[in-house]
Amino acid sequence: MELIVVRPEEFAQAAVDAFGHALVRAERPCLALPTGSTPVPFYRRLAETRFAFPPGTRAFALDEFVAPDAEAPGSNAAFFRRHWPPDFPPVAMPRADAADPEAEIAAYCAAVAACGPLDIAVLGIGVNGHIAFNEPGSGLADGCRVVRLAERTREAAAREWPEGVPEYGLTMGIAEIMAARRVMLLATGPAKRHVVHAALTGPVMGEIPASFLQRHPALTVVCDTAAGALLTQES
Ligand code: F6R
Repeated sequence: MELIVVRPEEFAQAAVDAFGHALVRAERPCLALPTGSTPVPFYRRLAETRFAFPPGTRAFALDEFVAPDAEAPGSNAAFFRRHWPPDFPPVAMPRADAADPEAEIAAYCAAVAACGPLDIAVLGIGVNGHIAFNEPGSGLADGCRVVRLAERTREAAAREWPEGVPEYGLTMGIAEIMAARRVMLLATGPAKRHVVHAALTGPVMGEIPASFLQRHPALTVVCDTAAGALLTQES
């Protein structure tokens, strides 16, 4: 595992540097990208520095809510419209309002699989240890699927869904994430320090899905000093 712990003001650039490094020799790479508050400064910095994606880059969102309005402000589709520059490679994602969510995520993941194993899966981490929408109780072999969202996940999203957070999500699985050539885990802020520490140094178990990343052969963790506080205390 490569661990990069930087001051909060250096986080966005450190993430861009690690991302750029991982993409150096990639040809027509396939990327998986997270939503949430953590990647916002990273995406902003990619835009500010006019990050040059390799030609033919294909990008996929890690997950989406299941909701009647595909354009709802809390949806991941709306997130990428707000935070992902229109001149960057477009980010594909499953439709939140699909009539048949099971069929939707199956078709979506067939497209991800056709792209090849992901070159990079960029991840955030939930306070409950989820990655994408792989909630506690997920297994290493769990692939793309419809999931019931954990209460803590729904609480964390409440601000963006004033009329009620969806109960279900569509997600890439642990299996697709673990098959990625490189995983880049991003974490910021003091609220993440316990879960980051548990995930990266504690037992590998489905109750903390991010702990499976300990078994990934090419994991880069980029966190700020607040999220990495308990990791650096030990070294
Ligand atoms: C969203 C995703 C989630 C978030 C996680 C952390 O696409 O993959 O696993 O990364 O919930 O969210 P923030 O960054 O808002 O704390």
